[in-house]
Amino acid sequence: MKNKTLPLVLGLSFASSLSIAAPHPGQELHEAANCMSCHATKPYSPEKTTSFPNLVKTVQFCNDNLNAGMFEDEIEQLADYLNQTYYHFPK
Ligand code: HEC
Repeated sequence: MKNKTLPLVLGLSFASSLSIAAPHPGQELHEAANCMSCHATKPYSPEKTTSFPNLVKTVQFCNDNLNAGMFEDEIEQLADYLNQTYYHFPK
């Protein structure tokens, strides 16, 4: 029993220290997809995008336009990163 729970505990503490130290996974996606090539001059604005579901849709829209080929869960991560950084919608 102990052998099974120990890696889980280690994994959890590793994950929680990661979330403090490492950048948001969505931030890396944001950089990799080069979103700032357009959005540096078109700042993300909560006046245009007014809810979290809306934000996910726009991220999907730009992903499709760019053919960035992100998966659904990556879109969510990227939207979550943008939300934490710019929009601050409650979820
Ligand atoms: C080729 C240029 C271009 C690139 C690259 C681009 N976008 Fe956009 N994006 C737009 C345009 C045009 C709009 C329409 C709204 C506007 O005028 O700001 C938009 C709108 C958005 C919005 C809503 C804007 C707001 O103010 O709320 C989000 C969020 C967004 N894009 C996310 C992304 C993400 C994430 C990426 C990278 C995967 C990305 N975009 C890459 C052109 C681009």
